[in-house]
Amino acid sequence: MVRRATLTAPTRVLAAVFLTVVALGTTACATDKRPPDPDAVAAGATLYEQSCASCHGSDLRGTDKGPPHLSEVYASDHHSDDSFRSAITNGAPSHHWDFGDMPPVPSLSDEDITSILAFVRQQQATQELEAYPPG
Ligand code: HEC
Repeated sequence: MVRRATLTAPTRVLAAVFLTVVALGTTACATDKRPPDPDAVAAGATLYEQSCASCHGSDLRGTDKGPPHLSEVYASDHHSDDSFRSAITNGAPSHHWDFGDMPPVPSLSDEDITSILAFVRQQQATQELEAYPPG
């Protein structure tokens, strides 16, 4: 009996630690998945229209000058937020499509780019993505 008690005590501690980790993990996930700030999305929509839509389309479905951002290839698991930042700041050489190089887009602040990303990610999460490669 005494032996059994000494064996179960550590088990209870382990169970408590396990439950705490699960609870913390759930909280972290909930925070990561929270929807983007609606103000940033709205600001991003305006900036996208001004700076990106001429090539990528007002509906993010591309034009004859640039590819659709609603393509699977631009989802965050293929093109991270950093790759968007880099394309805007440095431009992007033609490599996924035949539209030619993307020139850098000057005069957007870090905050502007964060808003554009909030808008693009929100659209990608709510619209149907096109297969890549297309067709
Ligand atoms: C003058 C036309 C043009 C404009 C304006 C433009 N892009 Fe692009 N963009 C392109 C083209 C063309 C490509 C495709 C390059 C390729 O073949 O992979 C591209 C590719 C990209 C890529 C992928 C880069 C990579 O690493 O593969 C991102 C991200 C992107 N554009 C974001 C933007 C955003 C955001 C804006 C507005 C701030 C913008 N673009 C404005 C033409 C443009």
